[in-house]
Amino acid sequence: MSKAAITGIHGYVPDYILTNAELERMVDTNDEWITSRTGIKERHILKGEGMGSSHMGSKAVAGLLEKMNIKPEQVDLLICATTTPDYVFPCTANLICDMVGIRNIGSFDIQAACSGFLYALTIGTQFIETGKYRKVIVVGADKMSAITDYTDRTTCVLFGDGAGAVMLEPNDEGVGVLDSIIKSDGSGQNHLLQKAGGSRYPPSHETVEKRWHYVYQDGPSVFKFAVKNMADVSAEIMERNHLSGSDVAWLVPHQANKRIIDATAHRMGIESDRVMLNIHKYGNTTAATIPLCLFDYESQLKKGDNLIMAAFGGGFTWGAAYIKWAY
Ligand SMILES: CC(C)(COP(=O)(O)OP(=O)(O)OC[C@H]1O[C@@H](n2cnc3c(N)ncnc32)[C@H](O)[C@@H]1OP(=O)(O)O)[C@@H](O)C(=O)NCCC(=O)NCCS
Repeated sequence: MSKAAITGIHGYVPDYILTNAELERMVDTNDEWITSRTGIKERHILKGEGMGSSHMGSKAVAGLLEKMNIKPEQVDLLICATTTPDYVFPCTANLICDMVGIRNIGSFDIQAACSGFLYALTIGTQFIETGKYRKVIVVGADKMSAITDYTDRTTCVLFGDGAGAVMLEPNDEGVGVLDSIIKSDGSGQNHLLQKAGGSRYPPSHETVEKRWHYVYQDGPSVFKFAVKNMADVSAEIMERNHLSGSDVAWLVPHQANKRIIDATAHRMGIESDRVMLNIHKYGNTTAATIPLCLFDYESQLKKGDNLIMAAFGGGFTWGAAYIKWAY
């Protein structure tokens, strides 16, 4: 059976940079608190009326196709992980395909909050491994600024906008996505959610007044679950693949908080110089954090490098993947 290998990667962040200094003028916060508690210095924000996650996702996909010299008609499937779809329906994957000229193939969204990219990668991998498809694009795209309450200092400092896309293709050289684990526990639902806008609480004057269309997060509870579950699942995937810390070339962690990343790396026995980190530049871009890390570090990756991806998010959802880099 062929493995699914990541054969290309591209990322996109919008131009506007929201710095800690600007946030200091918006809410009662300061650079020292944000930097020491989260590791974030700035984040990119998508500005402009009528602009959604698809606008960033399509830039990442168009860049990927151009870079790899692949025509839209060669793509077999496109999966988009997002928590901030442009619309309730149609899905953002359909819109991205339309924007880049990909027609008449399957495309759909996956919603697993900050673990979305890992979930979508796991799903895309199955289509390659079964031999059904040969070119699957997995996109992570989120416009978190659309659901961030810029009067709430406990959440508005955390999030940013961005997108990343990878190409999956079959490989028989022993490289690619070698294992993945996805998990969820819906009893965590009330700790991290956007309460209104879905079928339980459709938009109304009341939901807007109560600010239920924004991210609500019980930060300390989420922090506790994130530290434990991201570290546990990373240890689990290493154990079952007989990997020790020294076998791992790179940890590719979801970028929610530098302290969570440090705790995961410590548990895995991985030194900080082998941990991909870009939270200082982008904040938490939800489904885009992992592909944006791969994009930023692409030039440092070597064929055969062992990568462990790990994520945790609302739901709760979490997971890990073991990848042997293919190029
Ligand atoms: C959000 C988070 C950074 C907050 O850090 P924390 O150390 O837990 O801080 P707390 O929420 O306990 O707040 C400590 C104090 O700082 C204050 N504070 C919160 N946000 C602040 C800000 N932006 N600036 C200044 N002070 C702030 C709080 O009001 C609190 O003050 P108090 O002690 O007077 O009540 C942290 O909980 C976190 O990262 N959580 C998980 C994030 C995550 O993983 N998200 C989901 C995965 S996608």
